[in-house]
Amino acid sequence: MIYPRIIAHRCGGALTPENTLAGLRLAARLGCHGVEFDAMLAADGVPVLIHDETLERTTSGRGRVANTDSARLAELDAGSRHHAAFAVEPLPTLDAALQLCAALGLWANVEIKPSAGQEAETGRVVARHAAAATGKLLLSSFSAEALRIAASEAPQLPRALLVEAIPADWSERMAEAGALALHSSARKLSAEAAQAVLSAGVPLRCYTVNRREDAARLFAMGVSAVFTDRPDLWPASEM
Ligand code: G3P
Ligand code: MG
Repeated sequence: MIYPRIIAHRCGGALTPENTLAGLRLAARLGCHGVEFDAMLAADGVPVLIHDETLERTTSGRGRVANTDSARLAELDAGSRHHAAFAVEPLPTLDAALQLCAALGLWANVEIKPSAGQEAETGRVVARHAAAATGKLLLSSFSAEALRIAASEAPQLPRALLVEAIPADWSERMAEAGALALHSSARKLSAEAAQAVLSAGVPLRCYTVNRREDAARLFAMGVSAVFTDRPDLWPASEM
């Protein structure tokens, strides 16, 4: 498939509360073809959309996601911390997000975001839910273990390894994770490392790019997509 070039990071977290259905809806209205969000397990094993292992920064809740049942998470306000206009925006389940992506025609980069110690279980459960979705998607993770388990659970799903700076042993780490693409931080990207990856024919996508000029520089280097909190900076024709 042709992958999107501009991917709404955390569903477009500068414009709407991050990792929410409101973000998915706005991304679609802006003309995005692709979105990224973070999937973590609640205490009862239900995968939900949230970035942090704790609830305080983005929701009305307190404590750890891994210690909170999904029924309690469903009662939280995941919108007001962004802006009062988004009060009562729910913290969505992964299934709800995947269903909405399919309905809106959005390609989804599901980042497997394990709480500490839950790498294998999160990889397994997120891959199982992703495999049941009808829309197009890709799995990524900073955890090679999570990706390996995801590959055994759903080998048909494409996978990407997330890194900050590209490590010297990027190729071995990708092989270990069973990944076909590399997603790296834009801030820590060196031209030499990018060239090494790209000349090996490995797709490279970069996070988090919130200025058009930075994206243009990365595209000129051969980077194939950027993750951005500001998908509104691009016209739909350039997505
Ligand atoms: O998937 C790209 C990006 O989301 C990785 O960083 O911390 O925003 O999940 P983070
Ligand atoms: Mg992420």
